This record gives sequence, C-alpha cells and structure tokens, in this order.
Amino acid sequence: MKRPSEIAPSAGKIAVLMPGMGAVATTTIAGVLLARRGLGEPVGSLTQNATIRLGKRSDDRSPSLREFVPLAQLDQLVFGGWDIFPDNAYEAAKHAKVLEDRHLEPIRAELEAIAPMKGVFYPEYVKRLSGTHLKTGRNKSHMVEQLREDIRGFIAQNGCDRAVAVWCGSTEIYFPSSAVHASIATFEQGLLADDPGISNSQLYAWACIQEGVPFANGAPNLTVDFPAALELARLRGVPVAGKDFKTGQTLMKTIIAPGLKARMLGIAGWFSTNILGNRDGEVLEDPDSFKAKEVTKLGVLDYVLQPAKYPKLYGNLFHLVRINYYPPRGDAKEGWDNIDLFGWLGYPMQLKLDFLCRDSILAAPLVLDLALFLDLASRARMSGIQEWLSFYFKSPMTAPGLYPEHDLFIQLMKLKNTLRWLMGEDVITHLGHEYYD
Ligand SMILES: NC(=O)c1ccc[n+]([C@@H]2O[C@H](COP(=O)([O-])OP(=O)(O)OC[C@H]3O[C@@H](n4cnc5c(N)ncnc54)[C@H](O)[C@@H]3O)[C@@H](O)[C@H]2O)c1
Repeated sequence: MKRPSEIAPSAGKIAVLMPGMGAVATTTIAGVLLARRGLGEPVGSLTQNATIRLGKRSDDRSPSLREFVPLAQLDQLVFGGWDIFPDNAYEAAKHAKVLEDRHLEPIRAELEAIAPMKGVFYPEYVKRLSGTHLKTGRNKSHMVEQLREDIRGFIAQNGCDRAVAVWCGSTEIYFPSSAVHASIATFEQGLLADDPGISNSQLYAWACIQEGVPFANGAPNLTVDFPAALELARLRGVPVAGKDFKTGQTLMKTIIAPGLKARMLGIAGWFSTNILGNRDGEVLEDPDSFKAKEVTKLGVLDYVLQPAKYPKLYGNLFHLVRINYYPPRGDAKEGWDNIDLFGWLGYPMQLKLDFLCRDSILAAPLVLDLALFLDLASRARMSGIQEWLSFYFKSPMTAPGLYPEHDLFIQLMKLKNTLRWLMGEDVITHLGHEYYD
C-alpha cells in the first residue's frame, strides 16, 4: 500500500453513529461528555492518553498521539444512533446501571437530547429481544434505503461534516458467510429478495458503506466481514474494522498467553468462565448468539500459541470458554481463568486469574478510539480492512488467507508503526544496534 500523500484536515463536526444504544454506547457518550467538561478522565483510551516514541531512543521525542496525528477533538463529536427501544441516552444509561448518578446527573440534559432513530430488527437474528421502536419496510433493500436517509438526515440536521459508525448492538446468532455475501451483485439481489443470510447488522453496515461512513464492528457477528462488504468498502473508499471488542477475559488472554509462549512454557489446558448480568449476558444465553461469541473467543489461543509449530508445548491444549448469565452482577463481570501450564521436564503448574471487571467501562475507550482512528483513516483515504486496528478486537479482520495477529503487544506496535508511517516518520523495529556502533 502506498503512503497517503496528504491527510485532510480534521476540522468540522463528526457524527458518531452507533447502531445499538445500550450499555456500551451510553457509557461511551457519557464519558466523552464528561471529559469535555473536565468532569471525568477518559482512562483506557490511547487517543486521549498515549504517547508515541519517534526516532531514536536518544532523541527524546515522545509526543502525545493527539499532538502527533491530526485526530479530531472530543468537542467535534456529535453522538447519535439507532435502537429498537425508544429510550434516550439518559434513560438507557440508567437502565444499563453502569454509571452512577454522580456521573449521569451533571450531563442529564445533554444525554436526554440524544434519542435513537428507529432500528431495523428482524428478530430471528437476536432471539432474546423483542423491540418496540422499529422501522417497517417492503424488504431489506428498503430498510437499507431508510437507514441511508437517516444518516444523511442526521448529518444535515446536526451540521456535521462527516460521520463514522461503530456497531454497539446486541450479538447476533452465529452463521458463516455464504453465497449471498459473495459479491456486491449477489448481496444487492439478496436485499431485494429478503435473503435470510442477511442479518440486521449487515443492513446497517451496508447503508453506512454506501454513504461513505467508516464502520467498526464491536460484536462477533459478521456485520462487515464478508466479501461483498469489503468489495463495496474498496469501491467507495471506506475504511472498516472488526470484530468483537477485546475487553475483559480475552484482553487478559492476549496479554498472558504471548508471555507464556515467549518463555516457551507449555500449556495443557485453559478453562475460561464468566458470569455477567447485563442485557448482553441475557442475549448471550441464547446458544446461537453464544456460538458467535465462542468462535471469536476460542480462536485467540490457537493463533497466539501456534500448536502446529509447537506440538510438544501446545499440541494437546484443552481450551474451554463458558459465559453464564447471572443477573445480580449486572455489568460488573467476573471472568475466571484456570491455566494448566507445564515447565522444565513437563512439571505441571497452575495459574488462576480472577478478573472482576466492568464490561462497558473497558469497552467505552475502544469505541472512542475506533471512531477517531477510523475518521483519521478516512481522511487519509485508507479504505477496506484496517488491520492496524486489530489491537481493539477479539477476532481481527484480515485480508483473505492471512492469519490474524492476536498478540496485544504486536498489535500495539503495528498500530503505532502505522501512525509513524502515515506521518512520514521512521517505523521502529527495536533493533537498536546503532546505539552500540
Ligand atoms: N462491553 C464489552 O466489554 C463488550 C466486549 C465485546 C463485545 N461487546 C459487544 O458489544 C455489543 C454491545 O454490548 P452492550 O453491553 O452495550 O449490550 P446492550 O444489550 O446493553 O446494548 C445493545 C443494544 O443494541 C440494541 N439492538 C439490538 N439489535 C438492534 C438492531 N438491530 N438495531 C438497533 N439496535 C439494536 C439493543 O436494544 C440494546 O439496546 C454486544 O454485541 C456485545 O457483545 C461488548
């Protein structure tokens, strides 16, 4: 890929559109509104906190990311989206019970002004929900048309210059890509024919790409990860990224597994179990939705540990993932991992990890970063899969035939090197021999 010769200026308002305005979306919105007023810190966000080393270690050049790349500022963002329930962002945030009143009340009026547009919802893709705030349409193609009108309307009404979208909707049932997803032509026919292979989230993704709106997918559904969408994204010059936010247990897995592997320690088993009690947990109780999640959660260790290359260390690894819906915990998830590892001469050891985390608190900074980085990518005329954003996903999208990179630290290096490359700085290899010449 050629380095973009210029990046369009970041000025102007940006619509951040979220299909699915539940716990993650409202926690993101509230956090940005609070940060804008100096009432909260956007902890966990690279765009707001990280620095980036440039040049040699002896150069002492480490600007903040925000100074280094022309990212949009928080006060340029205008939030909106769709949901299948009519609650405004304040009501939805109260319902989600992630944030306390001390965080919601100071921004109550601003949150109340953010009301979702009517959602597109064919219930067979999310069995545990039945929405009330719904569009009706002749067929799926007509639904896409209406979503496109929503996007144009939102941009015009709010005086926005451009938009980005992040799917924060419920996890859909698992199904693989099929013939209808093969090309733009087959997909367009499928829309007209109400093909059952086209899910709700794919309608949003299609509408966004058609409108030139960069799209990130925070859930494990295919959504934008199928050949027709990628063909359309390249044609329209739209950057896309996915899938499934890497937050709690999988984040820990991609921190710990590369470390054990780096030391060539063996792993015989890895049992991961979770309890969570939010609406996401309720949806994931449905075995078909869980299947979608299981696939993205299970893939990680195989790619990090490469059992085919290291059969003695990882060839017999038994990996099990469970999610249990347990209402008393709400959004405060508990993820347990039991790792059976072995060392010198095969002597067994165990590592137990108990992560008492907060799902949406971990996901919100990812939504913000993805919105700002996708906007940057779009202004730099980067289109199609943005693999450098793998850092944010459990199941990173890649070019066909390429295995995904799951190791968090390789992902971070890739992200920062992409920014260096974009800005015409040397990429950093960590070779460092020049210090000893
Ligand atoms: N929080 C995390 O750490 C995390 C990590 C990885 C992935 N995710 C994924 O992010 C998504 C959002 O999580 P959440 O905790 O906010 O869930 P949530 O249930 O609180 O919010 C999802 C919202 O999507 C809405 N929705 C469902 N189908 C829709 C449609 N077709 N159109 C418009 N709206 C629709 C629901 O009504 C709900 O308000 C889920 O898919 C979840 O699996 C979350």
